[in-house]
Amino acid sequence: MANDSGTVAVVTGASSGIGEAIAEVLAERGHDLVVTARRRERLEALATRLESAHDIAVHVIERDLGEHGGADALYGDVAALGKRVDVLVNNAGFGVYGSSIEADHGRIASMVELNLVALTRLTHRFGRDMLDAGGGRILQVASITAFQPSPLYAVYAASKAYVLSMSTAINQELAGSGVSMTTICPGLTDSEFHQAADHLKPRWMDWTQMSSRQVAEVGVRAMMKRRSVVTPGLVNKLAGWGVKWIPRSWATAITGWIMQGKRSA
Ligand SMILES: NC(=O)c1ccc[n+]([C@@H]2O[C@H](COP(=O)([O-])OP(=O)(O)OC[C@H]3O[C@@H](n4cnc5c(N)ncnc54)[C@H](OP(=O)(O)O)[C@@H]3O)[C@@H](O)[C@H]2O)c1
Repeated sequence: MANDSGTVAVVTGASSGIGEAIAEVLAERGHDLVVTARRRERLEALATRLESAHDIAVHVIERDLGEHGGADALYGDVAALGKRVDVLVNNAGFGVYGSSIEADHGRIASMVELNLVALTRLTHRFGRDMLDAGGGRILQVASITAFQPSPLYAVYAASKAYVLSMSTAINQELAGSGVSMTTICPGLTDSEFHQAADHLKPRWMDWTQMSSRQVAEVGVRAMMKRRSVVTPGLVNKLAGWGVKWIPRSWATAITGWIMQGKRSA
């Protein structure tokens, strides 16, 4: 796949954190890239860095995927490049922390548009092109919050449960087609996510935290192996395994207690 000048890997949310690290890992593997997010200057700095370090081309597309129609606009931007997309990484996302009923409705709506609507639309449009071309790989970034209801992150966690459920099912539908869909479920990861969600990271959780680079390596490796679901890190794997064995009400209560610890001072 790598160094095929007719193909390109699209990475959403590549201006920071996990998306930026995934772009780096794919660049090291020789993929030409389309990097997209809202902060153009960050994307341009990334493109310059990756093009000078690796023998690849990096295209920058500034897009707000939290706006209705943003995903279709991005699809049009990519189509205009005239390249075949053989890898799609649906990574862009953010969380709204706090009481969901009291939260600003505009922010909730924008989060649903980005985490769920745009991801579904991009999956559908690029996935269909991949099917027509007879091959491709899609990496969906979910979260360990997908495994159980999460008080104070109720809508965010539900959006990630949607991503996990939809993507696992579609991957099954795609069996034998040459197109695969891998879902990664990261736990606490060092990135700008927590600032954007406006909460603290409890100190006692530091030891569970992974770097964006570690998460990116696990995700890209699983996608290349066409695995269906991967959870990076032993603690996160144990958390995902553990919630299967306790009543859902207990899992919800424990998660609520953990989320309470993230309240800003
Ligand atoms: N960090 C964690 O602990 C953690 C754990 C589990 C899952 N995740 C998931 O990992 C993914 C990446 O998050 P991260 O941790 O790397 O956080 P991050 O550093 O805040 O990165 C989020 C990325 O999404 C982009 N983005 C946000 N709103 C956007 C919009 N309206 N339109 C287009 N792009 C937008 C941001 O770019 P711009 O601001 O430039 O647009 C940025 O590139 C998310 O889906 C998140 O839910 C994170």
